[in-house]
Amino acid sequence: MDSIIVKGGTELHGQIHIAGAKNAALTLMPVTLLTDEPLTLTNTPRLSDIRTMAQLLSSLGAEVTALNDGRVVALSSHGLTSTRADYDIVRKMRASNLVLGPLLAREGRAVVSLPGGCAIGARPMDIHTTALEALGAEIELKDGYLHAVAKSGLKGAVVPLRFASVGATENVLMAATLAKGTTVIENAAKEPEIVDLASCLRRMGAQIEGDGTGRIEIQGVDRLSGATHPVVTDRIELGTYMLAPVIAGGEVECVGGRLDLVAAFAEKLDMAGVQVEETPVGLKVRRANGRPRAVDVVTEPFPGFPTDLQAQMMAMLCTAEGKSVLEERIFENRFMHAPELMRMGADIEVQGGTATVRGVERLKGAPVMATDLRASVSLILAGLAAEGETQVNRVYHLDRGYEHVEEKLSAVGAHIERVQGS
Ligand code: EPZ
Repeated sequence: MDSIIVKGGTELHGQIHIAGAKNAALTLMPVTLLTDEPLTLTNTPRLSDIRTMAQLLSSLGAEVTALNDGRVVALSSHGLTSTRADYDIVRKMRASNLVLGPLLAREGRAVVSLPGGCAIGARPMDIHTTALEALGAEIELKDGYLHAVAKSGLKGAVVPLRFASVGATENVLMAATLAKGTTVIENAAKEPEIVDLASCLRRMGAQIEGDGTGRIEIQGVDRLSGATHPVVTDRIELGTYMLAPVIAGGEVECVGGRLDLVAAFAEKLDMAGVQVEETPVGLKVRRANGRPRAVDVVTEPFPGFPTDLQAQMMAMLCTAEGKSVLEERIFENRFMHAPELMRMGADIEVQGGTATVRGVERLKGAPVMATDLRASVSLILAGLAAEGETQVNRVYHLDRGYEHVEEKLSAVGAHIERVQGS
């Protein structure tokens, strides 16, 4: 397994190009199942999760072709040969469950493995299944698989979500585009990836209103046409790289960054004394003077502070002036980066879903390891300003969600390299 070695202590200067959003691409790719016409996605990120989704869709009989070095993905599913998403793929990537809604809408049936637990939590699917049952699906759990059928097709309905689940909103939104009649999703997730999915579906002829708000209304149509759609900028990669100059010092311009995608996060940076400036090509970030100030963070569904930036924010707060309290309200176990940061000299106290960080002058490099994608990148960020060398192991987590992280950071002056594992 590869490792990444970071030598701390150099300020960062220059530009980092932000890629298309992993979490948008992972819901846009299954859209191909809703039509037999070609769907082309541009600005797709080059990540292992995208390849995993391509593998899953191919196993269902879709054709998926990466073009232009993976920046374009061409998909088409004339005739599906299977409606089963196997455990060995789903357990690798929970987003595989996003084929459930489209398969039900297109084929009237689906067999999708439950993902099983993952490092950050149990990740149940009850909100997905309750919502799809409201549209007329019958779903039962048998030997770890959800067996779903919609004998007489899906029918529009009012679908209240008990929690604004991103994935459940996406599954229902995709399924409802071909359901008979009107569907209203109540307490829908408002993430930018939902808006991106809706805008792609509208290009294909879907009738959707209210995406980005808590109430989405969909008029079912008989069929969808193909389309070409650009994947929205990755707000989590953006937030991650915005923190790099805050931790290491210097000034970095995140090309493609949009303030509206990271408003709650940018507000916290402002409170910490960080300068974020909108430029014609993106967002320029620098530490105003010396160490950033401590701030408190509570993770919430969009437009609140994103849980996917919590670990990275904690890495920054480890060397901020003062005490910060971070509350993780989305996942039940998303502080696994904390013990690793403590190995680097951070002063962190974790009590259930709350972590208290007391800033120290400087962290010390150490061999560290993380068990999820965002925790991994938070350790790289911490290493940028730590004294000495930090070796982050198990970087396959990183490659799921960050394309060429060592290239992007070394291009702005970081001393970072990938070491082939044994
Ligand atoms: C999406 O996961 C993202 N993944 C996650 O990003 C992100 O952290 C999450 O949304 C929250 O923003 C993709 O988009 C591929 P949820 P998702 O359904 O859809 C519970 C990353 O690092 N829940 O909004 O799975 C669930 O356990 C990943 O890129 C149920 O209880 O998130 C969690 O505690 C990590 N029952 C909370 O809701 C359900 O049926 C939020 O989950 C569904 C979810």
